[in-house]
Amino acid sequence: MTTFVLFGGTGDLAKRKIIPALYSAFVNGRLDANFSFIGVAREALDDADFRQRVLASVSASIEGSSANGGGSTPATLQAFLALTSYCKIDAREAADFEPLKQRIDTSGANAALFYLATGPDLFIPVVQQLAAHELVGDNARVVLEKPLGRDAQSAREINAALRTYLKEKQIYRIDHYLGKEMVQNLLVLRFANSFLEPLWNRKWIQDVQISISEQVGVESRGDFYDHTGALRDMVQNHLLQLLSIVAMEPPVNANPDAIRDEKVKVLRGLHKFTPEEVSKHTVRGQYRAGAIDGKPVISYQAEPGVPAASRTETFVAIRAEIDNWRWAGVPFFLRTGKRMASRSAEITINFKPIPYSIFGTNQRNLRSNRLVISLQPEESVELFLKTKEPGEGIRLSDVALNLDFAEASTSRRVESYERLLLDAMHGDLTLFVRDDELGAAWDWIDPILSAWQGDSEGLKSYISGSWGPAAASYLLAQCGSAWGEEY
Ligand code: BG6
Repeated sequence: MTTFVLFGGTGDLAKRKIIPALYSAFVNGRLDANFSFIGVAREALDDADFRQRVLASVSASIEGSSANGGGSTPATLQAFLALTSYCKIDAREAADFEPLKQRIDTSGANAALFYLATGPDLFIPVVQQLAAHELVGDNARVVLEKPLGRDAQSAREINAALRTYLKEKQIYRIDHYLGKEMVQNLLVLRFANSFLEPLWNRKWIQDVQISISEQVGVESRGDFYDHTGALRDMVQNHLLQLLSIVAMEPPVNANPDAIRDEKVKVLRGLHKFTPEEVSKHTVRGQYRAGAIDGKPVISYQAEPGVPAASRTETFVAIRAEIDNWRWAGVPFFLRTGKRMASRSAEITINFKPIPYSIFGTNQRNLRSNRLVISLQPEESVELFLKTKEPGEGIRLSDVALNLDFAEASTSRRVESYERLLLDAMHGDLTLFVRDDELGAAWDWIDPILSAWQGDSEGLKSYISGSWGPAAASYLLAQCGSAWGEEY
């Protein structure tokens, strides 16, 4: 039996992602027969109130997507609600944990999974209380939502404190990008095909671009976001995780630790910036008012919960380098931003140009070969080749060999949160972040954070609906490259 206990049960993430993911797993028959779900938060709600919220969150997600709705009926919804209950807990009040203890059966093989969808400041108090109430025995697992700390030191303090109560194999640090279908496909693409490996290095690759652009602003999370910023919210975790998978050496097998051993080596190999390099190799921006798909949107500083003089970044672009034999000298351009022209998450591998063109230099589209792996909105892998345009003479054109996964497979698409929650319930750590990975990622981020702190002038503004500050294009132009949309 699994009891799923969700701290932060009334929060935004619970509402938008976690509860719909649990429901989808339920509808698809993926949960244990004796599964039960307990929402936990500080609000004074009873079971019926919480079920109402669960109902609203599930209904909204069914309306918004076909995937979660598949198989849902009024009866399945009622059955799910019947497994749902609520516990009001203030994490710093020991007595509040008593009623929770009464509801959780920790005997035999029964497992409780505690999902901490709260701020990192509550991780230690919650786990301390769970331990004091004997709720984190060998079968218990704890899932931690990002951000895990604010910098390297706070992340290490959290890890060290949690390890007094839990073994590393009981700690599931979630990064929902690792649950995306194409991210796992990237491992297969790299390590189950023979033709890419000989090209996958500094000899053949000019640069790598990893870009996650969003059209949404900070939505209802202004206060949280303003204390976090894009570097901590997206780069420290999602972008660095993608980078580590693109750049890692072949692991000895596909076991969680073999993969994570290789990822951590990449993160440790990232060249740490001096303050001068931070100003040369990073760009940060904040969105101003503008329009998204023709609809006017307000500036970041006018968002609810955001101070009018906020200097928090909503856009980051970085030129990173990995100091190792495979990658020395190859720029890895990372970019993420809110309120950008379109929503996409893409990895582009730009191969080096041919040494010499026998077709002359005045051909159109002389951009060299590239491999584009799209995670969203569509899942695809495109390999751009030069071919001859039909007709007289020789005119080159760029043509994509395109593998569109929506067309290639009709299997049910599993949302990343659903996949990761099921993995955590089944004890599979492959797609979760190990403590040393987290530490290495923060070690690289820290010098950027400190350099930015001392330089409030460095924040540029950009118009909502654009591709970010112009300086982000210059970062690539200096290396003879350009972002995908600029070609
Ligand atoms: C979250 C960030 O981790 O990822 C959000 O906190 C961001 O700010 C979200 O919007 C993006 O995720 P996705 O899956 O929609 O690209």
